[in-house]
Formats: sequence, structure tokens, C-alpha cells
Amino acid sequence: MEIRINIEEYKSPDGLSDEEQQLIERAIQTARDAYAPYSEFHVGASLLLDDGTFVDGNNQENAAYPDGLCAERVAMFAANALHPGSPVKIMAVAAIYQDKLLDQPVYPCGSCRQALLESENRFMQPIRILMYGNAGIHAANSIKDLLPLSFDSSFLKSK
Ligand code: THU
Repeated sequence: MEIRINIEEYKSPDGLSDEEQQLIERAIQTARDAYAPYSEFHVGASLLLDDGTFVDGNNQENAAYPDGLCAERVAMFAANALHPGSPVKIMAVAAIYQDKLLDQPVYPCGSCRQALLESENRFMQPIRILMYGNAGIHAANSIKDLLPLSFDSSFLKSK
């Protein structure tokens, strides 16, 4: 078996649409508001919903380390809670460490990929994700591209 995934590479935001550039700007801005006193790794995730609404989220850490949550899930859960009828169209992610935007694109962790996939499946509509780095941006047109051979609700219904 061979699994193919498609990742687009952009040298700068110039190759992206205006709304995508705006979304990246929001992700960078919201990363600055992250609560990350332990890792000092500040992540921002911004979403554009189908209805044109923007929703921003950033990582929220905790002195009990495992109780913190990544930016992507904070943003996605907020969007799904506040706008349950509106699918997410695009997500942008950016990270700041030691006051510097990361050079390499920041990729969502495995747990976030699973949570983002649930939202994509829930609305039966692919989510485009822009992973920002100063040196380049990587983009995928579906969360499935970030999580091949994934587990979803179809397994629960197949018994
Ligand atoms: N983090 C995110 O918020 N998103 C990612 O894509 C990677 C990691 C957070 C979790 C933790 O607060 C900090 O970054 C260091 O792992």
C-alpha cells in the first residue's frame, strides 16, 4: 500500500489569497496572547468559518502540565461551541519562541490532528490548514492529509 498526501509549499504569504494572509496575521497576533509560562512556546491558531466569522485561539498551559491545551484545540472547540452551525473553512497556525516567529512551519500535534479531523468529519467538509513558518508556509487541503489511516466514527458504527 502506498499513501500519497499533498502538501503545498509557499515561500511567503504573497502566494496566498487576501483572506488567507489575514488569517495568518491573526494567528501570529493571537500567538502573542498565549498563556505559556512553562514552555514559553506561544502558539496561535485562527479559523475562518464558512459564514465569514473569524475565531482565534492560543495555547493555555497549566502548572499541572498535562492539563494545558494546544492552540488548535482551543480555537476549534471555541468555534464549534460558539458557532455550532458553521463549518470551519480554513485554519492558520503560527508559533513564537523567545520572541521570534519560528522559521520552520509549525505542525499540529497528533492529538490536535485527531480533534481537527472530528470537526472536518462532523461538517462533512474539508478544512484547509496553513502552517506558518518565516522561511515558508506549508498548506494541506484536508486534515486527512495530516492523519492518514485515522480512526473515526465509522469504526464505531461497523460493529
Ligand atoms: N502546542 C500547541 O499549542 N500547538 C502545537 O501545534 C504544538 C504545541 C503547545 C502545547 C504546549 O503549550 C507548548 O506548545 C509546548 O509544547
